[in-house]
Amino acid sequence: MPEDFTSVLKEKRIFKPSKEFSGNAHIKSLQEYKKIYKKSIENPEKFWAEKADQLHWFKKWKKVLGSNKDFFKWFEGGKINVCYNCLDKNIAEGKENKVAIIWEAEDGQTKTYTYSELLQEVSKFSNVLKAHNLKKGDRVCIYLPMIPELAIAMLACARIGLIHSIVFGGFSSESLKDRINDCNAKLIVTSDGGFRNGKIIPLKENIDRALKGCPSVKKVIVVKRCKNKISMKKNRDCWFHDEMSKPKIDDTCKAIEMDSEDPLFILYTSGTTGKPKGVLHTQAGYLLYVYQTFKWIFDIRDDDIYWCTADIGWITGHSYIIYGPLSNGATSLMYEGGLTYPHPDRFWRIVEKYKVTIFYTAPTAIRALMRYGDKWPKARSLKSLRLLGTVGESINPKAWMWYYNIIGNKRCPIVDTWWQTETGGILITPLPGATPIKPGSATLPFPGIVPEVLRENGSKTNVDEGGYLVIKKPWPGMLRAVWHNPKRYEKTYFGKFKNTYLAGDSARKDKDGYFWIMGRIDDVIKVAGHRLGTAEVESHIVSHKAVAEAAVVPIPDKIKGQAIYAFVTLKKGIKATDNLKKDIIMHVADNMGHIAKPSKLQFADDLPKTRSGKIMRRVLKEIAKGTKEYGNIATLADPSVVKILEKRVIK
Ligand code: WT7
Repeated sequence: MPEDFTSVLKEKRIFKPSKEFSGNAHIKSLQEYKKIYKKSIENPEKFWAEKADQLHWFKKWKKVLGSNKDFFKWFEGGKINVCYNCLDKNIAEGKENKVAIIWEAEDGQTKTYTYSELLQEVSKFSNVLKAHNLKKGDRVCIYLPMIPELAIAMLACARIGLIHSIVFGGFSSESLKDRINDCNAKLIVTSDGGFRNGKIIPLKENIDRALKGCPSVKKVIVVKRCKNKISMKKNRDCWFHDEMSKPKIDDTCKAIEMDSEDPLFILYTSGTTGKPKGVLHTQAGYLLYVYQTFKWIFDIRDDDIYWCTADIGWITGHSYIIYGPLSNGATSLMYEGGLTYPHPDRFWRIVEKYKVTIFYTAPTAIRALMRYGDKWPKARSLKSLRLLGTVGESINPKAWMWYYNIIGNKRCPIVDTWWQTETGGILITPLPGATPIKPGSATLPFPGIVPEVLRENGSKTNVDEGGYLVIKKPWPGMLRAVWHNPKRYEKTYFGKFKNTYLAGDSARKDKDGYFWIMGRIDDVIKVAGHRLGTAEVESHIVSHKAVAEAAVVPIPDKIKGQAIYAFVTLKKGIKATDNLKKDIIMHVADNMGHIAKPSKLQFADDLPKTRSGKIMRRVLKEIAKGTKEYGNIATLADPSVVKILEKRVIK
């Protein structure tokens, strides 16, 4: 990690919310937070039951939290529907004409959906899915750009008990294939393409290539977005607009009663080894958790215009573009296109145009925009903003100060929210009207959450001593399974410390109990906030015909936080050329996606390995960074490899 991105704090000031902000906030002071927190952990079941009463239930639960081996089951005996809570409930409460989704296309076109319009579209699409014979529990893979049909498709699945598995549009055909096959999706919703920075991303083509190896898929529904030429396979592919306008497709559809612990969605994410894992979230607990966190952390009010810049293909978009905001009856903005397209003020123009009040983005985006200078945001009116947020990685103090001073005009609190795909929602975060903020720290746990920092032997660390970040008590939004892989679930999350959730991050806790996240402890690389597994990237490099072996490690990157550095050995007799290097990099982009492209690739005759043949990534990391703090390398089968690699390192 570069110096700038570690937890070493150069900004020592503490930023308190203004009286005005606190006075109007849901949680108004640190004292109030502490009181709620104390109660929430003394009696979590009571705390969560009170909150769950605010949701709509077809049938009330029997038990808030299961015990013993069922310790992660929430609200069993209850019947609920997530889509109903996001749409029908708001309509019943008088919000039928309130805007649910504002969509800004990359070309500047706007489309809005009120709650009742959205319900109508969602109901129609639920009926389309039913017409294709999909039944409760079937998996639907959604591979779409950031267009309203993405929101419609996921809510339609939720309405009739189908499990969605959304694959980020930045992933390509091979990654798609793995994800589709792992969950045996029956149907795919995609589009003819997506716009990004003025170019068209060939989503349907990627699907066509992937489907050569996906026997479970029977139907592909294609949204027309780009009007580009694609091929439609007879009896398999059909157009979204054709399906939606069939006379037999009714515009009402009953939301079915789901058990609290029925699956809601699968979302694939990277881990230490092998293929990505299908993180499974269920109905009631997930909904409650994103509902409550969204309400308090974003301090939502009826007149807010809320914008989260994430892609719905990641958990941030699931929880805080769709399920959290809509279950609160909020107005959520969705933006289709590129960060700086056509100019570096695109984000600020959107804030100005829609009078965005709450803005949630990633440190990598802040750093990228900061680079273009203050003139871009300064030329736009950002006075509607009242609250800012970040997610995805720690924010370095310099970026924090720019965000605070230039974007928030020193008025807006910043919530630095720590969480993961697995956690469903935000776990460690300021509450904006209550928590004094230390830039770079995600601060304190959300009510009901009990994080701790542990040593290898399971004992608690001292103040400021780094260790394993864990969560000691279950919470409603936690993952319930790794899809069809209970062993991996147990081992990854509960294998190190008994009955304690292992986050996979290192952290320290300061004297005020504030948490400072220090980075991943496993082989996960966060490239521009996107979570990538070294194993998956390596397998795509190795699938190139010239490659014998590959190892990838993170290197610091000023904008992206981390970038990928690849060491590659070639098959015997193949010459290392610049063209081959480019070809391998393009191969990764084609098969896995552009986000996974190594930014540097070094050819190597040999990699540092232990005597048992294990690649020592720790050593490669040091070589790539040029820091040379190898520690003990006596265990290497051939220590001379290190010097050779050092000499050819790409700076
Ligand atoms: C990993 C999870 C949760 C939504 C986006 C990422 C890192 C996330 C923070 C933060 C420091 C953070 C952690 C975590 N991370 N938020 N505020 N400060 N690090 O979800 O793709 O599952 O990645 O992102 O390393 O383990 P994800």
